[in-house]
Amino acid sequence: MIVLGIETSCDETAAAVVRNGRDVRASVVHSQVAAHRPHGGVVPEIACREHAERLPDVVAEAMRQARLTWEDLDAVAVTYGPGLASSLLVGLAGAKALALRCKLELVGIHHLEAHLYSVFLDPATPSPYALLPARALVVSGGHTCLLRVERDGSYRCIGRTRDDAAGEAFDKGAVLLGLGYPGGPAIEAAAKAGDPNAVRFPRGLQRRQTSPEGDDWRFDFSFSGLKTALLYHLRDNPPHATGMLAKQQRADLAASYQEAIVDVLVRKTLTGLSDERTVWLAGGVSLNGRLREHLAAEAALHGVRLVAAAPAYGGDNAAMIAALAGMGSGRRQVQSRDLDAEPSLPFDAGRLWPDVLTQGFG
Ligand code: KG4
Ligand code: ZN
Repeated sequence: MIVLGIETSCDETAAAVVRNGRDVRASVVHSQVAAHRPHGGVVPEIACREHAERLPDVVAEAMRQARLTWEDLDAVAVTYGPGLASSLLVGLAGAKALALRCKLELVGIHHLEAHLYSVFLDPATPSPYALLPARALVVSGGHTCLLRVERDGSYRCIGRTRDDAAGEAFDKGAVLLGLGYPGGPAIEAAAKAGDPNAVRFPRGLQRRQTSPEGDDWRFDFSFSGLKTALLYHLRDNPPHATGMLAKQQRADLAASYQEAIVDVLVRKTLTGLSDERTVWLAGGVSLNGRLREHLAAEAALHGVRLVAAAPAYGGDNAAMIAALAGMGSGRRQVQSRDLDAEPSLPFDAGRLWPDVLTQGFG
């Protein structure tokens, strides 16, 4: 099955062509970073306009790289949520038009399910059956979710952030440190020259806690206190008279701040493992080298192997959208075109692939 995928949920305009759920024939990602950078973050109106301007060229480029014609496609898959409403609508409009014009099946894909599945886009990753059950960490700009994935591909979110997402913590920290947008790569680069133990920033929700309703918060994350701690640290240790942070001070703060985020992500991900065979890492924050390194090392000590999304598929891309659709997943529409954007689509529980496929994994 050959699927054209379209992704426009945030600030990347992407299209890809994937065969049979794993074989990536083309993956084109247009990053909007340059358009948003002057504003210090993603501006929804600008994102929507950029998607509308770029999507046709990005789709055409993906088809050109895949050396395919419209007749070769079996379906068009598109992210329908969660994400920015106006941006999602651009992708949906494009996908619906193509599906109608080329008489293709239209498949709506959950953005975070696609991130979860993205670990299989690395050709080196074995078939799913060999990796399950798994513990998975999906870390992006808007979400931080810890999941349990069963042998049949069903998943359940066992922990989530109670305030800022990990990517958001990187982005907000970078603003405070004057490092610009996007914050994750900027903090990682600055941290390379810094001492991760220079400042001991707080690690949120580390002790075993329960909510007033008795819910287990062991697997939940909280990053807003960390951001506030950085703010207070900068207030109490003001920058030099020039108004600029000294280079070493900034590097030490970036390294210490990154360490606090990574430390919490790693510890919670490996908490309470039982029969899991692997730990999966996906989403934009999975590109962080320190996180990959630390999680791989700690997972090995727990006797489980880390399976991380390949760097090309860690951040937002359309290959993961087309791939998941190629696995027979998503909301499938043959005649109807009433698929709508769901900006707040929940990520609680679901299934990565249909029942029939589970038998086929060897
Ligand atoms: O998955 P993604 O591309 O988009 C969303 O679905 O949100 O994730 C974007 C997030 C941003 O917050 C960005 O700062 C973060 O991923 N990020 C990183 C790195 N590269 C991207 N965070 C830490 N270290 C990185 N190297
Ligand atoms: Zn994403």
